[in-house]
Amino acid sequence: MQKKQELYSGKAKSVFATDNEDYVVLSFRDDTSAFDGEKVEQLNRKGMVNNKFNAFIMQYLADKGIPTHFEALLNDTESLVKNMKMVPVECVVRNVASGSLVRRLGVEDGLELNPPVFEFFLKNDALHDPMINEYHIETFGWAKAEDISKMKELTFKVNEHLQKLFADAGMILVDYKLEFGLFKGEIYLGDEFSPDGCRLWDAETRKKLDKDRFRQGLGGVIEAYEEVAQRIGVKL
Ligand code: C5P
Repeated sequence: MQKKQELYSGKAKSVFATDNEDYVVLSFRDDTSAFDGEKVEQLNRKGMVNNKFNAFIMQYLADKGIPTHFEALLNDTESLVKNMKMVPVECVVRNVASGSLVRRLGVEDGLELNPPVFEFFLKNDALHDPMINEYHIETFGWAKAEDISKMKELTFKVNEHLQKLFADAGMILVDYKLEFGLFKGEIYLGDEFSPDGCRLWDAETRKKLDKDRFRQGLGGVIEAYEEVAQRIGVKL
């Protein structure tokens, strides 16, 4: 497999074509962004940590029967994935209230949510990723009804598996964001799962071990990501 031209560059990852049109290379950079790209910094080792973290989680989920785009870890910062047509929607599940939910509804940060809350957001920086529902997705043609149901079902299945994985390592999976795409007409989990796109708290101390350390200027961002990786058994 040969890496070819860059197809797309996002805020933290770039996508490169390969000599096989079914596959692309996902390249994890050290760029770290927050607030729709308003705050951007380079954090040493982040590309490597997130690439290996994501590879571990995607393989873990695939073993549990979740269809994912992940094919192979290529090197420290790159993975081979299926070339999907991405659905421009973010699927968020919240087990504990934090972040935008707290700001939007005025509920207490840290409140346990039972049952967990599911939310869709449109991926659109210029519009600040507005919250949407199934009707918007179907009416504006971002995904078909059956694919919307599938994304929702898979996002909840991921919750079952990852809540347990992190709980067994002494952490609370507060919330997370997933993105999906279509490959040969079927829905697969895409993008990445890393501490950049979820909230993880130490179960005892409630110390934040995720991107909120960057958003809130708490420092020790990559050290926290490495701690999570080490606790769940990711080899860095
Ligand atoms: O900001 P909010 O509380 O809505 O975020 C919910 C979850 O989704 C958090 O874990 C956050 O890191 C993740 N997220 C993300 N990318 C976005 C928006 C949210 O990874 N663009």
